[in-house]
Amino acid sequence: MTHKIISLDEHIIQSQRNLPYATGELSSLLRDIGLAAKIVSREVNKAGLVDIAGRADVENSSGDDVQKLDMLANDLLISCLRNSGECCGIASEEEDNFKPIKTPYKFAKYIVLFDPLDGSSNIDVNVSIGTIFAIYRRRSFEGECTLDDFLQKGADQVAAGYVLYGSSTMLVYTTKQGVNGFTLDPSIGEFCLSHENIQIPKTGKIYSVNQANFNNYPKGAQTYIMHCMNSGYTQRYIGSMVADVHRTLIKGGIFFYPGTTSKPNGKLRLLYECNPLALLIEEAGGLASDGKNRILDIPATKLHQKTPVFMGSPDMVHKAETLILEVDGV
Ligand code: AHG
Ligand code: MN
Ligand code: MN
Repeated sequence: MTHKIISLDEHIIQSQRNLPYATGELSSLLRDIGLAAKIVSREVNKAGLVDIAGRADVENSSGDDVQKLDMLANDLLISCLRNSGECCGIASEEEDNFKPIKTPYKFAKYIVLFDPLDGSSNIDVNVSIGTIFAIYRRRSFEGECTLDDFLQKGADQVAAGYVLYGSSTMLVYTTKQGVNGFTLDPSIGEFCLSHENIQIPKTGKIYSVNQANFNNYPKGAQTYIMHCMNSGYTQRYIGSMVADVHRTLIKGGIFFYPGTTSKPNGKLRLLYECNPLALLIEEAGGLASDGKNRILDIPATKLHQKTPVFMGSPDMVHKAETLILEVDGV
């Protein structure tokens, strides 16, 4: 028996029909991100050849600079989005000037924030990495977009997703109508629906944290780690948030990066990493917290803001919050 293959583009158009007043702009933006993802995927898959063709950050044989993969992904995404016509502004984790990029389409409705290649320390060892994106409707009504348009709370995202460059390339996204996952079939160059309406298990047995930082975590996080160890859980930590969260979404479990003594807000970025992944986790029935409050309600004050994060199966995140409250107080 054969069943119908649903491509990403087809799925985006189908779900647009369920959105009231949809004009097709969001669909078109998502399709452009899908296209950029395919190009990044192609580059990631040949990363091992870089050493043969010319090492990154030195000149190649024709005298051009061979770009580092994270910068290449950044430039690819910026140019796809800049020319999409559907977004007026872009902000990337890799741009450290703290200013969003304005596109020539200053009247367009949407703004996009992304982490072009999350887990970049894993690039040169062939371990899963990914792209994370968040889409908001602009708040300003006229003229060019402003910084304020980017500083919205995560709950106001209209869509979010990630692309995982793993054993296969997957794109997982939500437009707040559930979470769907697509696997890239390289033979036809299409993302095909492979994980329909993803639901995170209510509880799990895997905790994912950099346990080497144990002594620098607050007492509440330490207590939760002890709880995991004493409950017979297994620890898994890839070191690419997008891959650790993907596993958490599919298998259940908890991913967390608490604050540390030297970095009280931890390492992970609210706008590029925590908000989009929190929206996906919540849409799949999970929870995402900074230990005390819902990630999606945290007010954004600057583009590169960081936050502690605990996300995953609802029972596990709830337990972490309960212990943190008991031990660290409010
Ligand atoms: P990025 O590569 O975008 O800078 O992000 C890396 C992040 C995240 O993916 C991962 O969860 C975390 O860094 C790992 O940090 P530690 O090595 O401190 O555990
Ligand atoms: Mn990252
Ligand atoms: Mn990054």
